Amino acid sequence: MEAIHFIDKDGTFSITQPENYSYLYFPIAGENGLKSALTPNLGGDIKANQNAFLMEPVSVENLHNNRSGRNFWCHVEGLGAWSAVGASAEEESRKFTKDQDNSELTAGFMWQTVSRQSDKYQLKAKITSFVPLEHNVEIMHVELCNMGKTAQTITPTAAIPIFGRSADNIRDHRHVTALLHRIKTTDYGVTVKPTLSFDERGHRKNDLTYFVCGITGAGEKPIDFYPVTEDYIGEGGSYAHPRTVLQNKQGVPSGKCYEGKEALGGIRFSTIVLKPEESVSYTVIMGITQQEEEIEDIVLAYVKAEKVKEAQARMHDYWQSKVNVRYDTGNEQYDNLLRWVSFQPFLRRIYGCSFLPYHDYGRGGRGWRDLWQDCLSLLIMDPGDVRQMILDNYGGVRIDGTNATIIGEKQGTFLADRNGIARVWMDHGVWPFMTTKLYIDQTGDIEILKESAAYFKDEQMQRGGGLDTQWDPSYGLKQKDENGTVYEGSILEHLLLEHLCAFYEVGAHNHIRLRGADWNDAIDMAAENGESVAFTCAYAGNLRQLSELLLILEEKFGWSQVELLEEIQVLLDDNVQLYDDVTAKGELLQKYLSRCQHNISGRRTQVPIGELAANLKNKAEWMAEHIRKTEWIEKETDEGWFNSYYDNDGAPVEGYFEQGVRMMLTGQVFAIMSKTAQDSQVHKICKSADHYLYQKEIGGYRLNTDFHELKFNLGRMFGFAYGEKENGAVFSHMTVMYANALYQRRFVDEGYKALQTLADAAMNFEVSRIYPGIPEYFNGSGRGMYPYLTGAGSWYMLTVVTEVFGVRGEIGDMAICPKLCKEQFDSEGNAQIWLRFAQKEFHVTYKNPLKLSYGEYAITKATCDGQTELANLDGTALLDRKTIASLSDTVHEIEIELGRR
Ligand code: G1P
Repeated sequence: MEAIHFIDKDGTFSITQPENYSYLYFPIAGENGLKSALTPNLGGDIKANQNAFLMEPVSVENLHNNRSGRNFWCHVEGLGAWSAVGASAEEESRKFTKDQDNSELTAGFMWQTVSRQSDKYQLKAKITSFVPLEHNVEIMHVELCNMGKTAQTITPTAAIPIFGRSADNIRDHRHVTALLHRIKTTDYGVTVKPTLSFDERGHRKNDLTYFVCGITGAGEKPIDFYPVTEDYIGEGGSYAHPRTVLQNKQGVPSGKCYEGKEALGGIRFSTIVLKPEESVSYTVIMGITQQEEEIEDIVLAYVKAEKVKEAQARMHDYWQSKVNVRYDTGNEQYDNLLRWVSFQPFLRRIYGCSFLPYHDYGRGGRGWRDLWQDCLSLLIMDPGDVRQMILDNYGGVRIDGTNATIIGEKQGTFLADRNGIARVWMDHGVWPFMTTKLYIDQTGDIEILKESAAYFKDEQMQRGGGLDTQWDPSYGLKQKDENGTVYEGSILEHLLLEHLCAFYEVGAHNHIRLRGADWNDAIDMAAENGESVAFTCAYAGNLRQLSELLLILEEKFGWSQVELLEEIQVLLDDNVQLYDDVTAKGELLQKYLSRCQHNISGRRTQVPIGELAANLKNKAEWMAEHIRKTEWIEKETDEGWFNSYYDNDGAPVEGYFEQGVRMMLTGQVFAIMSKTAQDSQVHKICKSADHYLYQKEIGGYRLNTDFHELKFNLGRMFGFAYGEKENGAVFSHMTVMYANALYQRRFVDEGYKALQTLADAAMNFEVSRIYPGIPEYFNGSGRGMYPYLTGAGSWYMLTVVTEVFGVRGEIGDMAICPKLCKEQFDSEGNAQIWLRFAQKEFHVTYKNPLKLSYGEYAITKATCDGQTELANLDGTALLDRKTIASLSDTVHEIEIELGRR
């Protein structure tokens, strides 16, 4: 039997003896800020943000090193002390022997239950962990059962070490910051309120209280406490061998205070006599609050075991309903995996890119590109707030087309660059359009393009090329005009500036300069002369699509003019001599930038929309053609691909080298997606990718071949071991975008292969060693790395919904054009998807009784609720927005019949 198996259609899975696998952890969190990571032995950590860790922050290597996890001990008279979480020196010594506790982990969205049974102690424990919706706490609910034939005398003790400070203090004054601790015992537990916090903000008065409380399932208070670590472990003891527990020593009563010690939420409950088969339960509540006085009320909200169960059920329903897309491809494993993949964007919204053990960098939050891409899946699942999110995010764009890179905690807040260090990632300009385009398609809300937003302003000017000495913080963080008024421009204007400025910022080969890096953060050592052909393709694709959108606005919606900032005129020059001339382009950009260094005119100009569309199209076509002419690499007749980069010495990076073939996936993805690659070229790219990059067992398409060189003239990625992370791993995000691009171009078999290989590798637990989901990447041995928090989640789901099942918006209408492979229909030839569109619920069923493959089938009939026949345009079934709006609030059945074309 597979080590991991699903037990329902909600994604709930279970695994036996999970502690026998390394590096496993599970996320549980809520919407109020608390974020936890849990190992099978309940190690991991709990935090609200970088400066507020309740448990000591852990990186992956700590998962098997640290003993300071959550523990729950049962001192059993006559036998010793059993750790119900399996974290004891005794159990460690029994590991991998026949005496090891039997254990099983079951988990679903935001909850984990570990059951463990000991032969020696004849006890069974079932420990459920979750973060309830109502309070900012983690709950650990322990149910104990006597499995023996005789009654047992048991004294239970919860023991959760309280770090109670900033993650910075792990190696920066760990001891001194313990001296700040003020520890108290209360009726229910232990609180720690440090006097000060020491972190990157300096030394400040602290107002957070960290607490660990406990109550029995019947509502009884604990009897005493172990609030101080050194007293608890005893001289020479450890968390895995706490001498107080082993000796069942008395703790201290409530109402005691301690200063300057490492703290522990040590909570001893009264001794009980548990008869055979009798059960008892305990609830441990761990949290961080500014209102110390609310702690008791929180505890009392979970006064009885039933209250905990009810809170768990509410939490369960909440997260299940959030992931409101369900799939049926006839493969339950895969459909369940897709539920986890669809859940991953929620996790990244909460955890950012920082707060799980592999993600041991950053200080929380997400970067600019992640912010936008995570919106993609929200547009499918939870579009309600996305409009505002998009508008707020545009406030981060500068007038020079770059953007703020430090993103505040509150939506739409951006911070000035620290210490005037410019960081320009050249890909940043492409993501807002991709998200906005999807938004417009899904909602039909073209008006968003006319909405206005301010521009971000800080010390940086000229795309990071200089500092605006006239700016100081009193100016504020919003661009002003000559009158000192905050200037607001339309969303369309923001988009234009992002693309036009990039268009002119070219290097020696007339592709857009790489600057600090592009999507690949680790291509970061070619700032002077590097160029990213890959993202030049992406900009070209966007410019083309933007021009197509403008034409639709003119033709279908009667827009004739758009109002733009006067200075933009400079960037709208449109002639091929200019496009061909690297120096002239640079000068033109400089002309614009020098006009926008400090304040801008604030004057506006009207531009005819048709003219603007033609202008953008010309630029897009010029870029694509230039790349086709200069970057195509072909030696073998049936192989070929595009060079993706130029290094800092101005040399192309890919091709046939002494050290072997050098090929990178990124350039191919955007060449395909942007239609820079012609169909014949896509065929050759696929062949080459299969030849040089594909390795089935480790997830499929790698990011690059082995360059066998430390290319310090390109990026730190070459310092990473080959096959790890950005250096040639199967990096899910790019592999999924590769699949997406192929589907868009109707290379369905090829796209399916890329998507499915990733999923197969993820689900092959014996190799991937991860819980269900798509990891950021697979390493050289196929282990899934950096689980949960990856942009691949959003893109995977987007690709499955809008390309594979082919349900997507077209300026508000619902268009259905399936690209399902034969394998994705069940034994009767059906495939189904449940999703929301335009605030209505739909169940779409595809019927393919002849079991035809893609390419063989066409839509022969399409109906909604058995009556309304859908328009069938060029093989796409269409349900217009008006009809959708008139539908009731029940689930609507769309049936798509597929027959021979
Ligand atoms: C991560 C980052 C993303 C970056 C990528 C490649 O990818 O979050 O911004 O573009 O590495 O360097 P992810 O974890 O989203 O797959």
